[in-house]
Amino acid sequence: MTALLEVNDLVKRFPIPGSGKVVQAVNDVSLTIERGETLSLVGESGSGKTTIGRCVLGLIDPTAGQIRFDGRAMGRGRSIRARDLRGRIQLVFQEPAESLDPRMQMGETLAEPLRYLGMNRADREQRVREVAEHLGLSERMLALYPTELSAGLQQRVGIGRAIVTRPELIVLDEPTSALDPTARAEIVDLLIRLQGELGTAYLLISHDLSTVRFISHRVAVLYLGTIVEEAESERLFARPLHPYSIGLLASVLLPDPELKRSSSISLEGEIPSPIDLPPGCPLAGRCPFADARCHKERPPVVSVGPRHLVGCFHHDRVAALDQTIDQFARFQEESNRLLSVGAD
Ligand SMILES: Nc1ncnc2c1ncn2[C@@H]1O[C@H](COP(=O)(O)OP(=O)(O)OP(=O)(O)O)[C@@H](O)[C@H]1O
Ligand SMILES: [Mg+2]
Repeated sequence: MTALLEVNDLVKRFPIPGSGKVVQAVNDVSLTIERGETLSLVGESGSGKTTIGRCVLGLIDPTAGQIRFDGRAMGRGRSIRARDLRGRIQLVFQEPAESLDPRMQMGETLAEPLRYLGMNRADREQRVREVAEHLGLSERMLALYPTELSAGLQQRVGIGRAIVTRPELIVLDEPTSALDPTARAEIVDLLIRLQGELGTAYLLISHDLSTVRFISHRVAVLYLGTIVEEAESERLFARPLHPYSIGLLASVLLPDPELKRSSSISLEGEIPSPIDLPPGCPLAGRCPFADARCHKERPPVVSVGPRHLVGCFHHDRVAALDQTIDQFARFQEESNRLLSVGAD
């Protein structure tokens, strides 16, 4: 069986006009998503997450590489708007307001993608009723306008608008980051429940690692447009093996800011600009493990366990540290050890 989505050696460069330079936004990214599965892309701002999402949707053309949805190529003029793809891939935005027309009642908003598919009125009304039930929206709510709803309810409708066409894949770009913690938890629950009921696959793009952790089957960690680690979610959060993943998870998951300052594996410096990337490992300039080889050669991505890929020359040294992010106290000790190992 072919994967639902297959991305092979995707490269996306943006020329900077007049400078002769290019932004190397995505560098040789490969990934797959099976039906009904959630793959998340995580990484700091500017790591290329949205660019990968836009390539997958066919909204921008890759510089190189292939994207296949259900076995057929995307890009070069073939986008989610292609006739045979309409409704099969959907997207959900960060700001629910972006996908909601302020002049439309929620019921009309939910029906709109069906109108675009050419569905007749009776079938549209039937489908909207089904979706409203999935979303837990009452008849009364369907008559409201976006400004009459909380951000959480708006996002619920944004998701409803995506599932109404029964897509096989939804690209969710930061779907919870504009929400307060309660609304966020509700949206996470909704997404998990909908996937169970409808079998929709998700490509989730998010800074919010707690959301990612709950929703994802697999997680890919991006750094400067490169996947540095990919693993099943549980495994990645319990036992990340790339120094960047550890730094990223530690910076977010260690609860106490004081603890965080004292113990996280500090990735020195800022994320460099993805313009004229040097050869070698993209993390070399910030990594406590980096040696001369890391600055010269790009580490190959290797398999380090079942469905676990890492691109680091020193992953065995990291593995030997036996840190477990779940256990913060232990993790603190281990990351201190990691810091001292890095310093020698
Ligand atoms: N249209 C464009 N023209 C030029 N550069 C671009 C364009 N789109 C993205 N970039 C650059 O490509 C890199 C990756 O951007 P992208 O938006 O994919 O990152 P991201 O991981 O989604 O970040 P964020 O978390 O801030 O949303 C960045 O350096 C960005 O400035
Ligand atoms: Mg983005």
